[in-house]
Amino acid sequence: MPQYILGIESSCDETAAAVVADGRHLLANVIASSAPIHRLYGGVVPEIASREHLQAIVPVIQEAMQTAKLEPHQLTGIAVCSGPGLLGSLIVGVAAAKALAAAWQKPLLAVHHLAAHVAANYLSGDLTPPFLALIVSGAHSHIVEVRSYTDFTILARTLDDAPGEAYDKISREIGLDYPGGPKLDKLSYQGDPQKLILPVSHVKDSPDFSFSGVKTAALNALNQAGQQAKQRGLPREAILSNADLAASFQAAIVETLVQKLKFFLEQKSYSTLVLAGGVSANSGLRSACEVLAEEYHVRLSMPPLQFCTDNAAMTAAQGFYEWQAGHTAELDLSASAMWELGEVMPTSRSTD
Ligand code: KG4
Ligand code: ZN
Repeated sequence: MPQYILGIESSCDETAAAVVADGRHLLANVIASSAPIHRLYGGVVPEIASREHLQAIVPVIQEAMQTAKLEPHQLTGIAVCSGPGLLGSLIVGVAAAKALAAAWQKPLLAVHHLAAHVAANYLSGDLTPPFLALIVSGAHSHIVEVRSYTDFTILARTLDDAPGEAYDKISREIGLDYPGGPKLDKLSYQGDPQKLILPVSHVKDSPDFSFSGVKTAALNALNQAGQQAKQRGLPREAILSNADLAASFQAAIVETLVQKLKFFLEQKSYSTLVLAGGVSANSGLRSACEVLAEEYHVRLSMPPLQFCTDNAAMTAAQGFYEWQAGHTAELDLSASAMWELGEVMPTSRSTD
């Protein structure tokens, strides 16, 4: 008998529900995004995101169950992303999951958002831990050793901005809509990556990342180009085009991530490298990692594009492995905006 997990995700601006069998086979995947509303403000407005989740959560779950053609009694458990993320957003998904777990008498499974991003890779192919993972999203940048489906050790992290955040900020400055990452990625192909030499940051005596330097350098270059253009009565794009900026920025971000991955691949012999998170959809990063994987003779796993950004299929997939490990949560589970990957969730309980 397959084990069916209903997954629920509401950590940022996507309200999502999905049903996955045995952590691998997708039966339903429903996503309602409030991004078009946030676009008006240039970024996610937490209060609006929470309100939109409230409106969408029940219909999204209903649609996922209908698409999967399952009755509640056929489910093995209900997995929910309970952190990290926007607290007001997380609370909506957690409340819905708790209500359903109580009403349907099913185990509740608390899933870490970044563990779920990694699990997006289980939805295609036959990937199994252990492996080295790069998790890059709008809010996080981690290099993680994944020892088993539920055992994570953070090897490096960003000390300031996440790459997705930097992409979104630069995009906004040049007039691209939120979320700008995918648009900047596309634009980069029309520009010259050598036009602007942006810093590839190194944190002294530490394996950690920093992206605020490259972000600030790109913003300064834009401002300087703007001033020079003004003095000469030209449009800013005559001095520095959006495409050249995008290409140079993408080159610097990808190089920073690749250099760091090389460092860890040289430290220990990993057989597999896994990409995860919204920024793993970046075409420059994906092709650079293909080259890297060949160079270091490691297998490379990257989620299909539709599972890179937030969705609940990844939550359901990770939920299955939490269930297998006996990690069930109590009905007093609360959302945790600041939950660290690899640590026990402050308020959840384990049956271990
Ligand atoms: O994982 P995700 O959906 O949400 C968080 O957990 O933060 O990631 C969203 C981030 C956004 O910052 C978005 O601009 C970025 O992922 N992103 C990209 C690309 N696709 C999405 N960044 C660069 N290139 C892309 N192709
Ligand atoms: Zn995410």
